[in-house]
Amino acid sequence: MMHIDRLEKIYIYISIAVLVIFTIAITIAGFALGIQVPSPSQLIDPNTVASTGPYSEPGLRELSPGNYELYIRAEASPWRFYPDEVTVPLNSTVTFHVTSADVQHGFKLQDTNVNFMVLPGQESTLTYTFTEIGDYPYICTEYCGVGHQNMYGVLTVE
Ligand code: CUA
Repeated sequence: MMHIDRLEKIYIYISIAVLVIFTIAITIAGFALGIQVPSPSQLIDPNTVASTGPYSEPGLRELSPGNYELYIRAEASPWRFYPDEVTVPLNSTVTFHVTSADVQHGFKLQDTNVNFMVLPGQESTLTYTFTEIGDYPYICTEYCGVGHQNMYGVLTVE
């Protein structure tokens, strides 16, 4: 029978235990707590997204007092977000809808958990409630071409 060193055996058992614990944690998070990775909320034709639907006139819309939806279109050449300046009142709940008209971009809103990939053909959606006044810059987090570093904007809470 193959000889396995005692310490090596311990490491193997620890590795197996870690895998089992992670599997249990993921199962509890996904099924019991309902924690899911951000997934596309709908499919969109990237060829017509700039001329039709909410993304042809992106921006902030108030759904009810303190409750907003924000549509943002990411584009390369010129590299920018439409819009790149947004202002909301304190304690607003904003549902972000972001899509791309061309290539893969990213969207990260600083100091929040609003952070996702922005893919042509898909809409990414997350909701956040702003309980602190300040400027929240957002940037493109996926390299998308020579103007990638120009893709940024700011959401102001006042
Ligand atoms: Cu868009 Cu990088």
